[in-house]
Amino acid sequence: MSTAEFVVVANRLPVDRGADGEWNRSPGGLVAALEPVMQRADGAWVGWAGQPDLDIEPFEFDGMLLVPVPLSAEDIELYYEGMSNDTFWPLYHDVISPPRYRRVWWEAYVAVNRRFAEAAATAVSDGGTVWVQDYQLQLVPQMLRELRPDLTIGYFHHIPFPAYGLYSQLPWRRQVLEGLMGADVIGFQRVADAGNFTRSIRRLFHYETRASGISVPQADGTTRVALAKAFPISIDADAYIELAQRPDVQARALEIRESLGNPKKILLGVDRLDYTKGIRHRMKAFGELLQDGRINVEDVTLVQVASPSRERVDAYMQLRDEIELTVGRINGDYDTMGHTAIRYLHQGYPREEMVALYLAADVMLVTALRDGMNLVAKEYVAARIDNRGTLVLSEFAGAADELGMALRINPHDIGALKNTIMRAIEMPGAEQGRRMRALRRKVIENDVDAWSRSFLSALASVRSRRTDAK
Ligand code: G6P
Repeated sequence: MSTAEFVVVANRLPVDRGADGEWNRSPGGLVAALEPVMQRADGAWVGWAGQPDLDIEPFEFDGMLLVPVPLSAEDIELYYEGMSNDTFWPLYHDVISPPRYRRVWWEAYVAVNRRFAEAAATAVSDGGTVWVQDYQLQLVPQMLRELRPDLTIGYFHHIPFPAYGLYSQLPWRRQVLEGLMGADVIGFQRVADAGNFTRSIRRLFHYETRASGISVPQADGTTRVALAKAFPISIDADAYIELAQRPDVQARALEIRESLGNPKKILLGVDRLDYTKGIRHRMKAFGELLQDGRINVEDVTLVQVASPSRERVDAYMQLRDEIELTVGRINGDYDTMGHTAIRYLHQGYPREEMVALYLAADVMLVTALRDGMNLVAKEYVAARIDNRGTLVLSEFAGAADELGMALRINPHDIGALKNTIMRAIEMPGAEQGRRMRALRRKVIENDVDAWSRSFLSALASVRSRRTDAK
């Protein structure tokens, strides 16, 4: 197999296999962000193809080499559904759902991380760069360093990193930090996440930590500096703007409004169906506003897109039941023949349809209880080329650090959430415009391309310091 100078390692490959067996690019923004670098460096992407037992050879796709790592049904159950999504995910999202600590899951996580590390070590050329993505692969940086000391290694953590008081629950807390410290640059979404990580290192390892990095002692008695820093991720804003400018997408937005009976105001929620997203809190607030008579179904509709996610994990099954019960109750109590209170869609949609929905929605509700970034907030802003619409944004989403002109809320405070929804519904056009213009400037300036460039330039400076030191 030929080797690449630049290799991305992520749990998933950036493609999905359709029913016809053809590979299609998956909608995520990461691949768009990395594409220019991948093309320049003849890049490779190491990841799981999304189905059990799919053992296929590396193949070319859109100018990059894709290197599949096969996962058996058992790996999926223990490493992906278990350790990644029933331990790390809830623990790192402030234990909104109780994390489960199971030794067999951990053993599978170690074994699968080793396979990803080995696949990356085989795919990368001498002195190359590897960029590891997210919490499913936290042990890969150190494993890779042991296999290939010649590499420059980056890691980006797409989800929150919790405070030490919570993190310290993890029975394997030292091993995970050791895994991450194998990277030269460890990127987080928020300054607070990088701070939590660094404090955990100080508590568990007593290593020296400064703004310039953590001094990690090496087996040969020297120290290596690992930089832990915030690099807030973003979206391909231009792609959303282009879609929002398309006449067919604008026509579709009008059609959506009509199909809902042309209410005066449309509220919108768009989430993976996940307990971190605060979908129940949002529905509670909305239901109470109807009950209080502050809004009525003729005038206001809530559209909730909840795309299916991790459907074999118990907490997700339970959440789906609870949400669907709530939607049924609210609609049963308030619907009329011509109008529905909540239009609930348990489906994923292509980007065009999402942009049409963003254009149709007067108020975007992002009520996450904890969220690494929340790209939906940024997508809504990018799509609003008309400078209209209001973003209600949880302070517990990473996006709140940058999007100060949104209406910020604490989703646990249902009373305040109700008042903020009313404020958004009633917001005059001039104020919408003033806020939206400021938000758009932020999102357009700090797009996903700026994100990947700043991470990779931090990585390149580590690399050049190392070369100078030789
Ligand atoms: C979050 C994570 C990603 C993950 C995505 C979808 O955004 O940070 O790593 O890929 O959710 O979840 P899934 O379990 O379907 O990959």
